[in-house]
Amino acid sequence: MEDSTTAAAARPPGFSGSAENLAHKDPYFHSQSPTHHHDILSSNSIILIIVSIISICIVFAIFLVIVMLRRIKSARKNDSCNEKNNSSRFIAHTATDFSYSPDVRERCLNGGNLLLSTPSRYRGVQVLTYKELELATDNFSEVNVIGNGGFGVVYRGVLADGTVAAIKRLQRDRKQGERAFRMEVDLLSRLHSPYLVQLLGYCADQQHRLLIFEFMPNGTLQQHLHSPKGQYQPLDWGIRLRIALDCARALEFLHDHSIPTVIHRDFKCTNILLDQNFRAKVSDFGLAKIGSEKINGQILTRVLGTTGYLAPEYASTGKLTTKSDVYSYGVVLLQLLTGRVPVDTKRPSGEHVLVSWALPRLTNRDKVVEMVDPVLEGQYSKKDLIQIAAIAAMCVQPEADYRPLMVDVVQSLVPVVKSYNSISCPASSRFQPQTSSPSFSTRYGIKSFGHKADKDYSIGM
Ligand SMILES: Nc1ncnc2c1ncn2[C@@H]1O[C@H](COP(=O)(O)OP(=O)(O)O)[C@@H](O)[C@H]1O
Ligand SMILES: [Mg+2]
Repeated sequence: MEDSTTAAAARPPGFSGSAENLAHKDPYFHSQSPTHHHDILSSNSIILIIVSIISICIVFAIFLVIVMLRRIKSARKNDSCNEKNNSSRFIAHTATDFSYSPDVRERCLNGGNLLLSTPSRYRGVQVLTYKELELATDNFSEVNVIGNGGFGVVYRGVLADGTVAAIKRLQRDRKQGERAFRMEVDLLSRLHSPYLVQLLGYCADQQHRLLIFEFMPNGTLQQHLHSPKGQYQPLDWGIRLRIALDCARALEFLHDHSIPTVIHRDFKCTNILLDQNFRAKVSDFGLAKIGSEKINGQILTRVLGTTGYLAPEYASTGKLTTKSDVYSYGVVLLQLLTGRVPVDTKRPSGEHVLVSWALPRLTNRDKVVEMVDPVLEGQYSKKDLIQIAAIAAMCVQPEADYRPLMVDVVQSLVPVVKSYNSISCPASSRFQPQTSSPSFSTRYGIKSFGHKADKDYSIGM
Protein backbone atom coordinates (compact mmCIF):
# COMPACT_ATOMS: atom_id res chain seq x y z
CA MET A 1 0.00 0.00 0.00
CA GLU A 2 2.80 2.37 0.87
CA ASP A 3 4.45 1.70 -2.50
CA SER A 4 1.38 2.54 -4.53
CA THR A 5 0.92 5.82 -2.65
CA THR A 6 4.52 6.76 -3.24
CA ALA A 7 4.31 5.87 -6.92
CA ALA A 8 1.15 7.92 -7.52
CA ALA A 9 2.67 10.94 -5.86
CA ALA A 10 5.74 10.66 -8.05
CA ARG A 11 3.85 10.93 -11.36
CA PRO A 12 4.51 14.04 -13.49
CA PRO A 13 2.00 16.91 -13.06
CA GLY A 14 -1.20 16.37 -15.03
CA PHE A 15 -0.57 12.68 -15.25
CA SER A 16 -3.59 11.05 -13.76
CA GLY A 17 -5.30 7.78 -14.56
CA SER A 18 -4.04 4.90 -16.68
CA ALA A 19 -2.71 5.11 -20.23
CA GLU A 20 -6.01 3.72 -21.61
CA ASN A 21 -8.00 6.43 -19.87
CA LEU A 22 -5.79 9.08 -21.36
CA ALA A 23 -6.21 7.62 -24.80
CA HIS A 24 -9.97 8.08 -24.52
CA LYS A 25 -9.93 11.58 -23.05
CA ASP A 26 -7.05 13.37 -24.81
CA PRO A 27 -7.84 14.53 -28.41
CA TYR A 28 -4.09 14.77 -29.11
CA PHE A 29 -3.99 11.05 -28.61
CA HIS A 30 -6.44 10.44 -31.48
CA SER A 31 -4.50 12.59 -33.96
CA GLN A 32 -1.25 10.60 -33.44
CA SER A 33 -0.20 7.59 -35.45
CA PRO A 34 -0.35 4.23 -33.61
CA THR A 35 3.49 3.99 -33.55
CA HIS A 36 3.91 7.45 -31.97
CA HIS A 37 1.11 6.63 -29.56
CA HIS A 38 3.05 3.57 -28.36
CA ASP A 39 6.31 5.59 -28.06
CA ILE A 40 4.69 8.10 -25.67
CA LEU A 41 3.03 5.32 -23.74
CA SER A 42 6.21 3.34 -23.35
CA SER A 43 8.38 6.35 -22.36
CA ASN A 44 5.78 7.37 -19.74
CA SER A 45 5.63 3.79 -18.50
CA ILE A 46 9.41 3.63 -18.21
CA ILE A 47 9.46 6.88 -16.19
CA LEU A 48 6.68 5.54 -13.99
CA ILE A 49 8.54 2.27 -13.38
CA ILE A 50 11.84 4.04 -12.64
CA VAL A 51 10.16 6.45 -10.22
CA SER A 52 8.39 3.54 -8.52
CA ILE A 53 11.61 1.55 -8.17
CA ILE A 54 13.46 4.59 -6.75
CA SER A 55 10.62 5.20 -4.29
CA ILE A 56 10.63 1.57 -3.16
CA CYS A 57 14.41 1.71 -2.74
CA ILE A 58 14.15 4.90 -0.63
CA VAL A 59 11.44 3.38 1.59
CA PHE A 60 13.50 0.20 1.98
CA ALA A 61 16.65 2.19 2.82
CA ILE A 62 14.78 4.21 5.48
CA PHE A 63 13.45 0.98 6.95
CA LEU A 64 16.96 -0.52 7.09
CA VAL A 65 18.37 2.59 8.79
CA ILE A 66 15.59 2.48 11.45
CA VAL A 67 16.23 -1.21 12.14
CA MET A 68 19.99 -0.60 12.44
CA LEU A 69 19.54 2.38 14.77
CA ARG A 70 17.24 0.33 17.01
CA ARG A 71 19.74 -2.50 17.19
CA ILE A 72 22.60 -0.12 18.08
CA LYS A 73 20.45 1.49 20.76
CA SER A 74 19.45 -1.80 22.40
CA ALA A 75 23.05 -3.07 22.24
CA ARG A 76 24.19 0.09 24.05
CA LYS A 77 21.47 -0.35 26.66
CA ASN A 78 22.56 -3.93 27.35
CA ASP A 79 26.18 -2.82 27.62
CA SER A 80 25.39 -0.12 30.12
CA CYS A 81 23.22 -2.53 32.14
CA ASN A 82 26.08 -4.97 32.36
CA GLU A 83 28.57 -2.27 33.28
CA LYS A 84 26.35 -0.70 35.88
CA ASN A 85 25.33 -3.86 37.60
CA ASN A 86 25.09 -1.86 40.79
CA SER A 87 23.31 0.98 39.10
CA SER A 88 20.99 2.98 41.29
CA ARG A 89 18.55 3.50 38.44
CA PHE A 90 15.87 1.53 36.81
CA ILE A 91 13.83 2.70 33.95
CA ALA A 92 10.21 1.83 34.10
CA HIS A 93 7.96 -0.62 35.78
CA THR A 94 6.71 -3.28 33.46
CA ALA A 95 4.62 -6.28 34.31
CA THR A 96 6.48 -9.50 34.69
CA ASP A 97 5.30 -12.86 33.53
CA PHE A 98 5.65 -15.49 36.23
CA SER A 99 3.46 -18.05 34.61
CA TYR A 100 6.46 -20.03 33.39
CA SER A 101 7.90 -22.56 35.72
CA PRO A 102 11.63 -22.10 36.17
CA ASP A 103 11.76 -25.86 36.44
CA VAL A 104 12.65 -25.52 32.80
CA ARG A 105 15.82 -23.61 33.69
CA GLU A 106 15.86 -21.37 30.67
CA ARG A 107 13.81 -18.34 31.47
CA CYS A 108 14.43 -15.40 33.69
CA LEU A 109 13.02 -11.98 34.29
CA ASN A 110 13.85 -8.94 32.33
CA GLY A 111 11.15 -6.45 33.15
CA GLY A 112 8.44 -8.44 31.50
CA ASN A 113 10.63 -9.97 28.82
CA LEU A 114 12.09 -13.37 29.21
CA LEU A 115 15.81 -13.04 28.82
CA LEU A 116 17.32 -16.05 27.14
CA SER A 117 21.00 -15.13 27.08
CA THR A 118 21.63 -15.66 30.81
CA PRO A 119 19.37 -18.59 31.62
CA SER A 120 19.26 -18.78 35.43
CA ARG A 121 20.38 -15.28 36.45
CA TYR A 122 19.04 -11.82 35.92
CA ARG A 123 21.52 -9.23 37.14
CA GLY A 124 22.61 -11.50 39.92
CA VAL A 125 19.07 -12.66 40.69
CA GLN A 126 18.87 -16.44 40.37
CA VAL A 127 15.84 -18.40 39.32
CA LEU A 128 15.64 -21.41 41.60
CA THR A 129 13.47 -24.49 41.51
CA TYR A 130 11.29 -25.54 44.41
CA LYS A 131 13.42 -28.69 44.71
CA GLU A 132 16.57 -26.62 45.19
CA LEU A 133 14.88 -24.65 47.96
CA GLU A 134 13.66 -27.82 49.64
CA LEU A 135 17.27 -28.94 49.71
CA ALA A 136 18.45 -25.54 50.99
CA THR A 137 16.01 -25.53 53.93
CA ASP A 138 16.12 -29.24 54.79
CA ASN A 139 12.63 -29.68 53.40
CA PHE A 140 11.39 -26.45 55.01
CA SER A 141 12.20 -27.84 58.42
CA GLU A 142 10.74 -26.18 61.52
CA VAL A 143 14.23 -25.74 62.94
CA ASN A 144 15.09 -23.40 60.07
CA VAL A 145 12.16 -21.04 60.65
CA ILE A 146 13.48 -17.54 61.43
CA GLY A 147 10.30 -15.54 61.16
CA ASN A 148 6.66 -15.37 60.26
CA GLY A 149 5.45 -12.20 58.61
CA GLY A 150 2.78 -10.76 56.36
CA PHE A 151 4.15 -12.65 53.36
CA GLY A 152 4.43 -16.04 54.99
CA VAL A 153 7.06 -18.08 56.80
CA VAL A 154 10.75 -17.16 56.50
CA TYR A 155 13.41 -19.89 56.64
CA ARG A 156 17.15 -19.84 56.95
CA GLY A 157 18.65 -21.87 54.13
CA VAL A 158 21.98 -22.73 52.55
CA LEU A 159 22.05 -22.56 48.76
CA ALA A 160 23.96 -25.04 46.60
CA ASP A 161 26.94 -22.66 46.34
CA GLY A 162 27.13 -22.37 50.15
CA THR A 163 25.46 -18.95 50.42
CA VAL A 164 23.37 -18.55 53.57
CA ALA A 165 20.00 -17.04 52.67
CA ALA A 166 16.65 -16.01 54.10
CA ILE A 167 13.95 -17.82 52.14
CA LYS A 168 10.41 -16.40 52.28
CA ARG A 169 7.63 -18.73 51.25
CA LEU A 170 4.41 -17.05 50.18
CA GLN A 171 1.30 -18.49 51.80
CA ARG A 172 -1.07 -19.43 49.02
CA ASP A 173 -4.14 -17.93 50.62
CA ARG A 174 -2.58 -14.49 51.10
CA LYS A 175 -4.57 -12.08 48.90
CA GLN A 176 -1.86 -9.47 48.41
CA GLY A 177 0.76 -12.18 48.05
CA GLU A 178 1.03 -12.47 44.28
CA ARG A 179 1.23 -8.70 43.81
CA ALA A 180 3.80 -8.44 46.61
CA PHE A 181 5.86 -11.22 45.06
CA ARG A 182 5.91 -9.57 41.64
CA MET A 183 6.72 -6.18 43.09
CA GLU A 184 9.64 -7.50 45.16
CA VAL A 185 11.17 -9.36 42.22
CA ASP A 186 10.55 -6.55 39.78
CA LEU A 187 11.94 -3.80 42.00
CA LEU A 188 14.78 -5.56 43.76
CA SER A 189 16.20 -7.05 40.58
CA ARG A 190 16.66 -3.50 39.33
CA LEU A 191 17.43 -1.50 42.47
CA HIS A 192 20.85 -2.05 43.95
CA SER A 193 21.99 -0.17 47.02
CA PRO A 194 24.02 -1.15 50.07
CA TYR A 195 21.08 0.17 52.11
CA LEU A 196 18.53 -2.26 50.66
CA VAL A 197 18.39 -5.98 51.43
CA GLN A 198 19.63 -7.81 48.37
CA LEU A 199 17.38 -10.20 46.50
CA LEU A 200 19.46 -13.26 45.63
CA GLY A 201 16.78 -15.10 43.74
CA TYR A 202 13.21 -16.22 43.43
CA CYS A 203 11.16 -19.28 42.65
CA ALA A 204 7.92 -19.24 40.68
CA ASP A 205 7.77 -22.98 40.21
CA GLN A 206 4.16 -23.93 39.41
CA GLN A 207 2.03 -22.67 42.31
CA HIS A 208 5.04 -22.02 44.58
CA ARG A 209 6.22 -18.45 45.19
CA LEU A 210 9.42 -17.93 47.15
CA LEU A 211 11.86 -15.07 47.55
CA ILE A 212 15.50 -15.59 48.45
CA PHE A 213 17.28 -12.75 50.25
CA GLU A 214 20.73 -12.18 51.67
CA PHE A 215 20.70 -13.41 55.25
CA MET A 216 20.86 -10.66 57.86
CA PRO A 217 22.33 -12.31 60.96
CA ASN A 218 21.16 -9.72 63.49
CA GLY A 219 17.49 -9.92 62.57
CA THR A 220 15.19 -6.90 62.69
CA LEU A 221 15.45 -3.55 64.45
CA GLN A 222 12.12 -4.40 66.07
CA GLN A 223 13.65 -7.40 67.84
CA HIS A 224 16.51 -5.33 69.26
CA LEU A 225 14.38 -2.40 70.37
CA HIS A 226 11.25 -4.08 71.63
CA SER A 227 11.94 -7.68 72.65
CA PRO A 228 11.42 -8.63 76.29
CA LYS A 229 14.27 -7.47 78.53
CA GLY A 230 17.36 -9.64 78.52
CA GLN A 231 16.69 -11.28 75.16
CA TYR A 232 18.91 -8.85 73.26
CA GLN A 233 21.68 -6.46 74.29
CA PRO A 234 20.29 -2.90 74.14
CA LEU A 235 21.50 -0.97 71.09
CA ASP A 236 23.83 1.86 72.10
CA TRP A 237 23.50 5.49 70.97
CA GLY A 238 26.21 5.22 68.28
CA ILE A 239 24.59 2.17 66.70
CA ARG A 240 21.17 3.85 66.78
CA LEU A 241 22.58 6.93 65.03
CA ARG A 242 24.14 4.80 62.33
CA ILE A 243 20.94 2.81 61.83
CA ALA A 244 19.03 6.10 61.51
CA LEU A 245 21.47 7.28 58.84
CA ASP A 246 21.47 3.96 56.93
CA CYS A 247 17.67 4.00 56.80
CA ALA A 248 17.59 7.65 55.73
CA ARG A 249 19.98 6.79 52.92
CA ALA A 250 17.79 3.85 51.88
CA LEU A 251 14.73 6.08 51.56
CA GLU A 252 16.76 8.84 49.91
CA PHE A 253 17.87 6.26 47.36
CA LEU A 254 14.28 5.17 46.67
CA HIS A 255 12.90 8.71 46.50
CA ASP A 256 15.68 10.59 44.76
CA HIS A 257 18.06 8.20 43.04
CA SER A 258 15.58 5.81 41.49
CA ILE A 259 13.80 6.68 38.28
CA PRO A 260 10.87 6.68 38.61
CA THR A 261 10.63 7.36 42.33
CA VAL A 262 9.75 4.43 44.60
CA ILE A 263 7.57 4.89 47.69
CA HIS A 264 8.19 2.07 50.15
CA ARG A 265 4.81 2.39 51.88
CA ASP A 266 5.63 -0.04 54.71
CA PHE A 267 8.70 1.46 56.36
CA LYS A 268 8.83 0.20 59.95
CA CYS A 269 11.14 -1.47 62.47
CA THR A 270 10.31 -5.04 61.39
CA ASN A 271 11.39 -4.14 57.86
CA ILE A 272 14.78 -2.84 58.95
CA LEU A 273 17.26 -5.70 59.06
CA LEU A 274 20.68 -5.67 60.70
CA ASP A 275 23.87 -7.27 59.40
CA GLN A 276 26.74 -8.68 61.46
CA ASN A 277 28.02 -5.13 62.16
CA PHE A 278 24.56 -3.76 63.00
CA ARG A 279 24.44 -1.85 59.74
CA ALA A 280 20.85 -1.47 58.63
CA LYS A 281 19.21 -2.44 55.36
CA VAL A 282 15.60 -1.85 54.38
CA SER A 283 13.52 -4.82 53.23
CA ASP A 284 9.98 -5.73 52.16
CA PHE A 285 8.97 -4.02 48.94
CA GLY A 286 5.73 -5.93 48.57
CA LEU A 287 3.62 -2.83 49.19
CA ALA A 288 5.89 -0.42 47.33
CA LYS A 289 4.43 2.02 44.81
CA ILE A 290 6.21 3.37 41.81
CA GLY A 291 6.19 7.09 41.08
CA SER A 292 5.16 6.55 37.46
CA GLU A 293 1.66 5.93 38.81
CA LYS A 294 1.57 9.53 40.06
CA ILE A 295 -1.00 12.19 39.26
CA ASN A 296 0.07 15.69 40.35
CA GLY A 297 2.81 14.24 42.52
CA GLN A 298 0.33 12.03 44.39
CA ILE A 299 -0.82 8.47 44.04
CA LEU A 300 -4.40 7.74 44.96
CA THR A 301 -4.45 4.26 46.36
CA ARG A 302 -5.94 1.88 48.87
CA VAL A 303 -4.59 2.52 52.35
CA LEU A 304 -2.12 -0.24 53.14
CA GLY A 305 0.69 -0.25 55.65
CA THR A 306 1.01 -0.60 59.40
CA THR A 307 -0.96 1.23 62.08
CA GLY A 308 1.18 3.70 63.95
CA TYR A 309 3.41 4.36 60.94
CA LEU A 310 0.81 5.75 58.52
CA ALA A 311 1.00 9.44 57.65
CA PRO A 312 -2.31 11.12 58.64
CA GLU A 313 -3.15 12.40 55.12
CA TYR A 314 -2.49 8.97 53.63
CA ALA A 315 -4.53 7.19 56.30
CA SER A 316 -7.50 9.51 55.85
CA THR A 317 -7.53 10.11 52.07
CA GLY A 318 -5.32 7.44 50.48
CA LYS A 319 -3.12 10.16 48.93
CA LEU A 320 0.35 8.70 48.84
CA THR A 321 3.56 10.70 48.31
CA THR A 322 7.20 10.29 49.29
CA LYS A 323 6.29 12.37 52.36
CA SER A 324 4.27 9.38 53.63
CA ASP A 325 7.57 7.46 53.90
CA VAL A 326 9.16 10.49 55.61
CA TYR A 327 6.45 10.31 58.27
CA SER A 328 7.06 6.57 58.82
CA TYR A 329 10.78 7.31 59.04
CA GLY A 330 10.04 9.89 61.74
CA VAL A 331 8.16 7.24 63.73
CA VAL A 332 11.13 4.86 63.51
CA LEU A 333 13.46 7.69 64.59
CA LEU A 334 11.21 8.24 67.62
CA GLN A 335 11.40 4.52 68.42
CA LEU A 336 15.22 4.69 68.29
CA LEU A 337 15.16 7.75 70.53
CA THR A 338 12.61 6.64 73.11
CA GLY A 339 12.60 2.83 72.93
CA ARG A 340 8.78 3.03 72.74
CA VAL A 341 6.49 1.30 70.23
CA PRO A 342 4.28 3.46 67.93
CA VAL A 343 1.05 2.46 69.68
CA ASP A 344 0.99 1.16 73.25
CA THR A 345 -2.41 0.96 74.91
CA LYS A 346 -0.84 -0.31 78.13
CA ARG A 347 0.66 3.12 78.82
CA PRO A 348 -1.22 5.84 80.75
CA SER A 349 -3.77 7.82 78.74
CA GLY A 350 -2.16 10.52 76.64
CA GLU A 351 0.86 8.29 76.00
CA HIS A 352 -0.80 5.63 73.83
CA VAL A 353 0.25 7.09 70.48
CA LEU A 354 3.98 7.76 70.32
CA VAL A 355 3.79 10.68 67.87
CA SER A 356 1.09 12.57 69.81
CA TRP A 357 2.97 12.08 73.06
CA ALA A 358 6.38 12.97 71.62
CA LEU A 359 5.61 15.98 69.37
CA PRO A 360 5.18 18.65 72.06
CA ARG A 361 8.20 17.33 73.98
CA LEU A 362 10.58 17.12 71.03
CA THR A 363 11.04 20.86 70.74
CA ASN A 364 11.30 21.45 74.49
CA ARG A 365 14.99 21.32 75.52
CA ASP A 366 14.26 20.06 79.03
CA LYS A 367 11.47 17.65 78.23
CA VAL A 368 13.38 16.04 75.37
CA VAL A 369 15.91 14.61 77.84
CA GLU A 370 13.09 12.98 79.81
CA MET A 371 11.75 11.14 76.78
CA VAL A 372 14.98 9.35 75.83
CA ASP A 373 15.18 5.56 76.20
CA PRO A 374 16.46 5.07 79.79
CA VAL A 375 19.01 2.45 78.62
CA LEU A 376 20.86 5.22 76.73
CA GLU A 377 21.66 7.24 79.81
CA GLY A 378 24.96 9.11 79.61
CA GLN A 379 25.78 8.02 76.05
CA TYR A 380 24.77 11.13 74.11
CA SER A 381 25.57 14.83 74.15
CA LYS A 382 22.63 17.16 74.68
CA LYS A 383 23.25 19.01 71.43
CA ASP A 384 23.18 15.75 69.44
CA LEU A 385 19.99 14.77 71.22
CA ILE A 386 18.35 18.11 70.39
CA GLN A 387 19.41 17.74 66.76
CA ILE A 388 17.94 14.24 66.45
CA ALA A 389 14.75 15.34 68.23
CA ALA A 390 14.39 18.27 65.82
CA ILE A 391 14.76 15.98 62.79
CA ALA A 392 12.17 13.58 64.22
CA ALA A 393 9.79 16.48 64.93
CA MET A 394 10.05 17.66 61.32
CA CYS A 395 9.45 14.19 59.90
CA VAL A 396 6.23 13.58 61.88
CA GLN A 397 4.65 16.94 61.12
CA PRO A 398 0.91 16.39 60.51
CA GLU A 399 1.15 18.62 57.40
CA ALA A 400 3.04 16.72 54.67
CA ASP A 401 4.48 19.90 53.13
CA TYR A 402 6.27 20.76 56.38
CA ARG A 403 8.12 17.45 56.41
CA PRO A 404 11.64 17.46 54.99
CA LEU A 405 12.83 15.46 51.99
CA MET A 406 14.91 12.39 52.81
CA VAL A 407 17.92 14.02 51.17
CA ASP A 408 17.62 16.79 53.77
CA VAL A 409 17.37 14.29 56.60
CA VAL A 410 20.56 12.58 55.40
CA GLN A 411 22.34 15.94 55.23
CA SER A 412 21.37 16.72 58.81
CA LEU A 413 22.24 13.32 60.24
CA VAL A 414 25.64 13.01 58.64
CA PRO A 415 27.40 15.62 60.84
CA VAL A 416 25.81 14.19 63.99
CA VAL A 417 27.02 10.67 63.18
CA LYS A 418 30.40 12.01 62.14
CA SER A 419 30.94 14.04 65.28
CA TYR A 420 29.82 11.13 67.48
CA ASN A 421 32.23 8.77 65.73
CA SER A 422 35.13 11.19 65.83
CA ILE A 423 34.70 11.41 69.61
CA SER A 424 34.12 7.70 70.25
CA CYS A 425 36.69 6.37 67.73
CA PRO A 426 38.91 9.26 66.54
CA ALA A 427 41.20 7.08 64.43
CA SER A 428 38.26 5.76 62.43
CA SER A 429 38.93 5.73 58.74
CA ARG A 430 35.42 4.74 57.71
CA PHE A 431 34.44 8.24 56.65
CA GLN A 432 34.89 9.24 53.09
CA PRO A 433 34.29 12.77 51.90
CA GLN A 434 31.59 13.33 49.27
CA THR A 435 30.15 16.44 47.72
CA SER A 436 26.66 17.40 48.78
CA SER A 437 23.75 19.70 48.14
CA PRO A 438 22.82 22.45 50.66
CA SER A 439 21.67 21.14 54.01
CA PHE A 440 18.16 21.57 55.30
CA SER A 441 19.68 22.38 58.71
CA THR A 442 19.66 26.07 57.95
CA ARG A 443 16.15 25.93 56.50
CA TYR A 444 14.78 24.31 59.64
CA GLY A 445 17.08 26.14 62.08
CA ILE A 446 18.91 22.95 63.04
CA LYS A 447 22.57 23.47 63.87
CA SER A 448 25.24 21.50 62.08
CA PHE A 449 28.21 20.34 64.07
CA GLY A 450 31.77 20.24 62.70
CA HIS A 451 30.27 20.25 59.23
CA LYS A 452 32.00 22.09 56.40
CA ALA A 453 29.61 24.05 54.23
CA ASP A 454 30.07 22.10 51.01
CA LYS A 455 31.28 18.75 52.30
CA ASP A 456 29.33 15.76 53.41
CA TYR A 457 30.78 12.67 55.02
CA SER A 458 29.24 9.31 54.43
CA ILE A 459 30.13 6.17 56.26
CA GLY A 460 32.04 3.88 53.96
CA MET A 461 30.46 0.52 53.37
N1 LIG B 1 16.80 -11.26 55.00
C1 LIG B 1 16.52 -11.70 56.23
N2 LIG B 1 17.50 -12.09 57.05
C2 LIG B 1 17.23 -12.52 58.30
N3 LIG B 1 15.99 -12.59 58.81
C3 LIG B 1 14.96 -12.21 58.05
C4 LIG B 1 15.16 -11.73 56.71
N4 LIG B 1 13.96 -11.41 56.19
C5 LIG B 1 13.06 -11.67 57.15
N5 LIG B 1 13.64 -12.15 58.26
C6 LIG B 1 12.96 -12.54 59.51
O1 LIG B 1 11.67 -13.02 59.20
C7 LIG B 1 10.68 -12.23 59.86
C8 LIG B 1 9.45 -12.06 58.98
O2 LIG B 1 9.80 -11.28 57.89
P1 LIG B 1 8.76 -10.63 56.90
O3 LIG B 1 8.16 -11.68 56.07
O4 LIG B 1 9.49 -9.54 56.21
O5 LIG B 1 7.60 -10.12 57.76
P2 LIG B 1 7.36 -8.79 58.61
O6 LIG B 1 8.15 -7.71 58.03
O7 LIG B 1 5.89 -8.59 58.51
O8 LIG B 1 7.83 -9.15 60.00
C9 LIG B 1 11.36 -10.93 60.17
O9 LIG B 1 10.75 -10.32 61.26
C10 LIG B 1 12.78 -11.39 60.44
O10 LIG B 1 12.90 -11.84 61.77
MG1 LIG C 1 9.42 -7.59 56.72
